[in-house]
Amino acid sequence: MPGELTEKVAIITGGAGGIGRATAERFVAEGARVVIADVDARAGTAFARTLGDHAAFRRTDVADAQQVRQLVDFTADHFGGLHVMCNIAGVSGSLRRFLDDDLRDFQQVMSVDLFGVMTGSRCAALHMVEHGGGVIINVSSAAGIDPGTGMLPYRAAKAGVAHFTRCLAVELGEHGVRANCVAPANIATDINAAFDKAAVTRLQPLPRQGRPDDVAEAVLYLASDRAAQVTGVVLPVDGGMSTGTPQAPAGGRSPRPK
Ligand SMILES: NC(=O)c1ccc[n+]([C@@H]2O[C@H](COP(=O)([O-])OP(=O)(O)OC[C@H]3O[C@@H](n4cnc5c(N)ncnc54)[C@H](O)[C@@H]3O)[C@@H](O)[C@H]2O)c1
Repeated sequence: MPGELTEKVAIITGGAGGIGRATAERFVAEGARVVIADVDARAGTAFARTLGDHAAFRRTDVADAQQVRQLVDFTADHFGGLHVMCNIAGVSGSLRRFLDDDLRDFQQVMSVDLFGVMTGSRCAALHMVEHGGGVIINVSSAAGIDPGTGMLPYRAAKAGVAHFTRCLAVELGEHGVRANCVAPANIATDINAAFDKAAVTRLQPLPRQGRPDDVAEAVLYLASDRAAQVTGVVLPVDGGMSTGTPQAPAGGRSPRPK
């Protein structure tokens, strides 16, 4: 039986680790050919090898527009097209509270997390518009949707990703390009290894930490023809965190109804 992404070619930035890696595995299992783009050449090359001739690695810093253009050209040459662009690469930056944060990493966080998504979307869209359409999926974050403390440059960048993606959907619909976002929270990857998992999980209605493949499933849906009429959405993959925190007024988890 053909997979959901048979005949499709995808770029997955940040594909050497975490959510990007799980997405690449899921896409290949559904028949896609994928280019894994990441600054971590060692992990990316080794991972691509495990996926056989359905995958290739291309070292790319998403903050460098020229490298991203070359990534799209490489993909079109290597696999004969580009149908799905997943802008997943990201960095978290300082976790400090605002008054303690000198904003030293503002430039880096914005360059990778917001400019990287914008330039990735643009380079892919230029190709897609000329070749009959495609799908763009960007990764925001619950931190970019709900206000909170700490990591303010990251929160601002991720809020930018969500708003930018919805604008992109409006810009590109007439060209047959869909653009959607996922907004994860509390997924077990390197980026949030320093967090207190149990404390963060208590903020969610669903009482388990998310896994990279939870996000990969959402990205697969948005990439597939099942989502053919879906554009401009920001889909939370957060155990319900953005809906509400299940704490009783006196603290602790609400008792379950008997
Ligand atoms: N894990 C979570 O709970 C969570 C929550 C919300 C949003 N996110 C977002 O999900 C995305 C993936 O993160 P993850 O959780 O898999 O973390 P991760 O650290 O495991 O993966 C991030 C990947 O991006 C790559 N990368 C970093 N800078 C890059 C650059 N300049 N160019 C190319 N690649 C670069 C890293 O090498 C790494 O492979 C990020 O955008 C992150 O902000 C994650």
